[in-house]
Amino acid sequence: MDLTHRPRRLRQDRVRGLVSETSLEPADLIAPVFVDATTEERVPIETMPGHERVPLSEVVDRVEEVRETGVEAIMLFGIPESKDPDGTRAWAEDGVIQEATRRITAETDTYVLTDVCLCEYTDHGHCGPLEEPLQSDDEHTDSGPACDPTLTVDNDATLEALDKIAVSHAEAGADMIAPSGMMDGMVGAIREGLDREGFENVPIMSYAAKYQSAFYGPFRDAADGAPAFGNRRHYQMDPANAREAMREVRLDVEQGADVLMVKPALPYLDIVSDIRREFDHPVAAYNVSGEYAMLHAAAEKGWLDLEEVALESLLSIKRAGADLILTYFAEDVAESLPA
Ligand code: PBG
Repeated sequence: MDLTHRPRRLRQDRVRGLVSETSLEPADLIAPVFVDATTEERVPIETMPGHERVPLSEVVDRVEEVRETGVEAIMLFGIPESKDPDGTRAWAEDGVIQEATRRITAETDTYVLTDVCLCEYTDHGHCGPLEEPLQSDDEHTDSGPACDPTLTVDNDATLEALDKIAVSHAEAGADMIAPSGMMDGMVGAIREGLDREGFENVPIMSYAAKYQSAFYGPFRDAADGAPAFGNRRHYQMDPANAREAMREVRLDVEQGADVLMVKPALPYLDIVSDIRREFDHPVAAYNVSGEYAMLHAAAEKGWLDLEEVALESLLSIKRAGADLILTYFAEDVAESLPA
């Protein structure tokens, strides 16, 4: 055949590397770490094989394990010793994240990002304090406000809490603050709080386009943050919407977000690539618990090769336009990459 164009020429082994458009490095990855104030021992997370909740006494060891793989950044999630309707343990000076951050930054040079949200700290499991019930009729509140499915999160009261949480994390030494609650105005409130307290150089990575997703299921087992009633669709985004994501992102940019995150990652790669085209900020993607769990489950059955599908997943997230990836595969993939 007289073919001028033969794309296969560039797929030969010795030239593939030269023409490869996307690369993945340990420095692109952030590993989530769960710190649990209710335990003295490491507790495996059943729905996320290979991950554990670690007690404060083990957190530095845990972070050193991550660092040995070449990953330099972690995202901290906390499980507090107690919960209440307002989530007050989230901004306590001796809270689980604050304490963990102090220990990690004192003993390692790891880049520490902290998740700023209230759902692990409120007893009802929502991402902020609830609005007062419309009628305070005793009959209706018998079972407590935490059971009233009509209640919604009080946006503006939550902003005050987020300001306090972010400042308390920065005071403990957090390098970057990552608000994940999808409250309107959250980035602005946190930027103002950080600047007011002298943390103008602490960047904010906003979970700018965070969808209401069933892919968070396994995380709820990990962080004990399932809503006690209802769901999060009155604040997290509708999976049907893409233009709305651009609006969310634009608002966060206006309020001073430094890094823009999309969550989940694989089912929302179109959003990653839209943001990449429209904005010049670094784009992050959160390859969430369900994306991790489903590959593990299939691999356990022998249906998929875990190492290969994990690498392919992360590569496609980068190809879509993400600069950094928050992923439970961080350690395994970093170890499998050529040095
Ligand atoms: C808290 C938060 C959640 C996740 C990260 N931060 C849960 C949720 O929003 O329901 C999920 C992460 C994952 O599934 O890996 N706001």
